[in-house]
Amino acid sequence: MSFFKLTIRDVPLEHKVVLVRADYNVPLTSDGKISDDFRIRSSLPTLNYLLDRGCKVVIMSHLGRPEGRDESLSLKPVAERLEELLGRKVNFVDDCIGDKVASAVRSTAFTGVLLLENLRFYKEEEANDAGFAEKIAKATAARYFVQDGFGVVHRAHASTAAITQFIPSVAGLLLEREYSVITKAMEDPARPLVAILGGAKVSDKIGVIERFVHVADKILIGGAMANTFLDYKGFAMGASKLELDQKETLDKIYWAAGEKVGGEHIDDFIILPTDVAVAREISPEAKRKNVAVSEVGFDELALDIGDKSIERFAREVDKAKTVVWNGPVGWSELDEFAHGSARIALALASQKKRTMSIIGGGDTADFVLKWDGGDGKDFGHISTGGGASLELMSGAKLPGVESLLDGRK
Ligand code: 3PG
Repeated sequence: MSFFKLTIRDVPLEHKVVLVRADYNVPLTSDGKISDDFRIRSSLPTLNYLLDRGCKVVIMSHLGRPEGRDESLSLKPVAERLEELLGRKVNFVDDCIGDKVASAVRSTAFTGVLLLENLRFYKEEEANDAGFAEKIAKATAARYFVQDGFGVVHRAHASTAAITQFIPSVAGLLLEREYSVITKAMEDPARPLVAILGGAKVSDKIGVIERFVHVADKILIGGAMANTFLDYKGFAMGASKLELDQKETLDKIYWAAGEKVGGEHIDDFIILPTDVAVAREISPEAKRKNVAVSEVGFDELALDIGDKSIERFAREVDKAKTVVWNGPVGWSELDEFAHGSARIALALASQKKRTMSIIGGGDTADFVLKWDGGDGKDFGHISTGGGASLELMSGAKLPGVESLLDGRK
């Protein structure tokens, strides 16, 4: 499936100034250190491609959700980490518009890299302000704009949308890969396609669940989301976290599922846990206790899928040719309740050669990266985008992609 926008491979950008939008919205520790550099590492192929072609590479990104200038959300630590990963000097300038930036661009050599300060220090960034985008374009004097921040392309911001009015705009290699892999899984997957959906809330993932009802061969539901489904099915879920206001959504989902597979097969299509691991509190001391979903005590919380369900989920994964996984199936921050997610990760890793696995960004990506020691090699594709991957999976158009130059038909 070819990508529908021009990419860096399609334009003559040799020895030009190129402005790259990356998503360096990385997690920071309380003392300001980068706790996970996956997004920075994922940007390297595009940067190296441009540097190999003699470009001067100017990078911009946001970090966090600052209200005005906030030194604790400076991108300076990212410049330092990027320098280590690239193995070459990365200049940093503490602004993203104006004379200071213009002069930093001039003093950066071709085959050099300059990172601009956090775009969201200006409210104009999130307002998709054309004047602000024009100032970025002027200060950097870039000949091409490369969108490679997959994690942020679902936002229509100055650095994802308005900027494309001022500079010819193409996709980077990360964006192209993310978009193509996820779109193929949703439109033309190797079958059976199994979707594993977990995480906290049904309401966060309605669009994705509805889309999977149409495209998946099986849908496995875990996490706190499963509590909402089980409550809807009439099980008393004790003190478990769940949403009580999703009845209409679930009516719609079950109606569409019934239309697709026939009423008598629904429970073999949308597969819910038949047992859960419960505890009386969410704490590192809590121990898992397996109970049938009909036996959750009034003061117990379901915090993971149970042992029988874990094996059932693993068997479904085992039969799949494509697995899309979005949301841990338990309270995976605590090892005791990460058994289900770890078993799924193990199943995917051990069948990597015959099953394409696509791991949604956010919590699921964090989990599998921790599980496999940080390099992600055990999985087909780990997305760098949380919200962006959900939107793309649900079939929404992404403003930061739509605004790029069209590719050849
Ligand atoms: C993300 O982390 O999902 C992206 O960087 C977008 O960040 P935002 O949700 O603050 O716009």
